[in-house]
Amino acid sequence: MSKKDDFFSHISGGYSCKGDYIVLGGAMLDGEAVTDAHIRIALKSLNRHGLIAGATGTGKTKTLQVLAEQLSLKGIPSLVMDVKGDLSGVARPGSENDFIRDRHAKINLPYSTMGFPVELLTISEQNGVRLRATVSEFGPVLFSRILDLNDTQAGIMSIIFKYCDDNQLGLIDLKDIRKVIQYLTGEGKEELEKEYGAMSTASTGVILRKIIELEQQGADRFFGEESFDVRDLMRRDASGNGYINIIRLTDIQDKPKLFSTFMLSLLAEVYSTMPERGDQPKPELVIFIDEAHLIFSQASKVLLEQIETIVKLIRSKGVGVYFITQNPMDVPAPVLAQLGLKVQHALRAFTANDRKDIRLTAENFPISDYYRTEETITSLGTGEALVTALNEKGIPTPLAVVMVRAPMSRMDILTPDEISSINSSSQLVARYSRVIDPDSAAEMLERKIREAEEERREAEARKAEQKSYERDYGRDYGRTTRTPTRTSGRTPSRRRTTTHPVVKVLTSATFIRGVMGILTKAMK
Ligand SMILES: Nc1ncnc2c1ncn2[C@@H]1O[C@H](COP(=O)(O)OP(=O)(O)OP(=O)(O)O)[C@@H](O)[C@H]1O
Ligand SMILES: [Mg+2]
Repeated sequence: MSKKDDFFSHISGGYSCKGDYIVLGGAMLDGEAVTDAHIRIALKSLNRHGLIAGATGTGKTKTLQVLAEQLSLKGIPSLVMDVKGDLSGVARPGSENDFIRDRHAKINLPYSTMGFPVELLTISEQNGVRLRATVSEFGPVLFSRILDLNDTQAGIMSIIFKYCDDNQLGLIDLKDIRKVIQYLTGEGKEELEKEYGAMSTASTGVILRKIIELEQQGADRFFGEESFDVRDLMRRDASGNGYINIIRLTDIQDKPKLFSTFMLSLLAEVYSTMPERGDQPKPELVIFIDEAHLIFSQASKVLLEQIETIVKLIRSKGVGVYFITQNPMDVPAPVLAQLGLKVQHALRAFTANDRKDIRLTAENFPISDYYRTEETITSLGTGEALVTALNEKGIPTPLAVVMVRAPMSRMDILTPDEISSINSSSQLVARYSRVIDPDSAAEMLERKIREAEEERREAEARKAEQKSYERDYGRDYGRTTRTPTRTSGRTPSRRRTTTHPVVKVLTSATFIRGVMGILTKAMK
């Protein structure tokens, strides 16, 4: 048998798939595509997460686009974090050219162009489906993690959430939580200390400062109502194709903290919302995080641990998470160890450090008789990658150099008009555009302070009046007669007790949905 025939049966055997699958491309040997040596990725293994890595311009984003398209055709929706803003084109058909025709002829895969069902989501002021979450939904544990609080400060945060829970104060946005802290260190200090014990002002000072820092990164746009229901990500169009939900994050690149906050909260929300699935023939949702180094580079150790934990647990809910990044070393080792699909595009060896990273990357791939992995990594062409996956039994597939198929949709962005047309026909945009500012903690506390102040003033006025009557009519005045005060007829406490229904739901859910608390318990 020739080397090529031998290789063909090696790949065909290793990538033969019993259940349903998607085709990523065709295998290559000695720089040439091998006709019909197709790389099939089992749908069943797609909840085992993955990595797409490679130097700039080597084809990572196009590989992501191909995966999202193929999943959509299988009725699997995806969520794509589009940091560079180059993925929206997936909504419109691509255009066939000689390069693509030639590529598909070599691997013998049919090619057609097609646009996919897309929702454009945003956490900023861009047009699209507004993604928001309430502070209550974060829960005290996750909220503390995001603020990078130490144990003492996190303990205080728990007390603050508990106080709000007990007093039906809805924590909707950052203004609410700031107001509660200001209240509990000012007018409400005594009330708090009686019931819950003292809070150190040094710690509350730090917490306030960190909340302001988060606000300065633009997080105030993200916290609020109407909060996003992650089940809306799991939609299919009339032909049964899964929606590709694109979160446009172009204005978040320089705000890594906000990005990791948002990412973690979204993963946590997906985790807490979706039921346990066990082994399923295909995933419910696949999440792609482009430019993933942004989440890892500035995340604290604790935050990294939380990401690790949630990535581990979310699998059982039928959700696959795919990280796209330039250097595989950007992904922390414990996360890397959990990834089933690895697509490694070319890496460049400019420095000693680069060479070290390449060696380590090569060592993380299965040994192959057909490739010298380290050399191969530096010589891959654009849109070519070293691949290893898990088959439907969870066994690693053979290492293969793959010519990745071309995306069926446009490899470029949408025009502003095309974006407007998607948004105007979206069912979700209108629903999530409503800004609701329910009667939440900030408003309630302001009212409480105002009423206390009014009561105090009224009491003082009453005292002063009593004194003046006593001066004019003698000490016993008013003990036998009703004091003709200006305030008569008014009840001293006019505190409104009605609570906005949204707030009621939120407050009672605060502790239940302290998602990270659930996770911590699940890990024990
Ligand atoms: N599978 C593919 N089929 C056809 N063309 C491809 C494919 N992959 C990559 N290309 C070509 O290579 C170019 C660069 O690819 P891509 O934008 O995916 O790179 P990248 O690794 O994401 O780069 P960056 O790190 O800058 O984001 C594309 O614009 C396209 O022309
Ligand atoms: Mg890219």
